[in-house]
Amino acid sequence: MIYITGDTHADFKRRFNMDNFPEQMEMTKDDYVIICGDFGGVWNVGQESKNEKHWLDWFEERSYTLLFVDGNHENFDRLNSYPVKEWHGGKVHELRPHVLHLMRGQVFEIDEKKIFTFGGASSHDVTGGILETDDPDFKLKKKRLDKEYELYRINHLSWWEQELANEEEMEEGRNNLRKHDYTVDFIITHCCSSSTQVLLGGTMYKPDRETDYLEFIKNNVNYKKWFFGHYHDNRNIFDKEILIYEQMIRIS
Ligand SMILES: [Fe+2]
Repeated sequence: MIYITGDTHADFKRRFNMDNFPEQMEMTKDDYVIICGDFGGVWNVGQESKNEKHWLDWFEERSYTLLFVDGNHENFDRLNSYPVKEWHGGKVHELRPHVLHLMRGQVFEIDEKKIFTFGGASSHDVTGGILETDDPDFKLKKKRLDKEYELYRINHLSWWEQELANEEEMEEGRNNLRKHDYTVDFIITHCCSSSTQVLLGGTMYKPDRETDYLEFIKNNVNYKKWFFGHYHDNRNIFDKEILIYEQMIRIS
């Protein structure tokens, strides 16, 4: 079995409890739940906080295996420091033996299904800018932004440039898709293609190198369904692309 859900932002209690997700009673470690980014379980600066350790261990103790692609709200300094392992044909960061980050540009073969994964996205909640702690005016700028209720983030504390894919990751994705004749069952990402973004929000969301890359994927890859999170809603875009948030959908 494979279930899929949207952004969790470290708020795991309701979505994964027995009342809301009773299907887990029938699941084993060979069954999977995949989160479409903004997992949020690796966020604290420096090391696993007590709360993070609790939840990562809690997921390890569940009946199923927990998988996630990265979103834009992850601590990439820490996420990228977990050991990289080969798993079901692609690369993962192993947070726990059964809590795995599906890395960008990989094709996994799970439950006889091929899944292309590509996390990352541009943050929308940074209209006030990105602050640097070593900026001599840091305190002054922060105070002003706080006073004006502006949305801002701080580099390496609440924002990481790795939120957006780099050329190497995009190339790896193209190479891995080529090996699979550009044909998969599912695509799982955090953001979506530039043209799908327009359908979702008109000019509200700006295209970037990652949404443009996903446009290439959309136009060149054969797939059955594409699931993504990021925009915090549950919507079907035509018959193949599905924006998912709190829902838990069985896809296999
Ligand atoms: Fe999110």
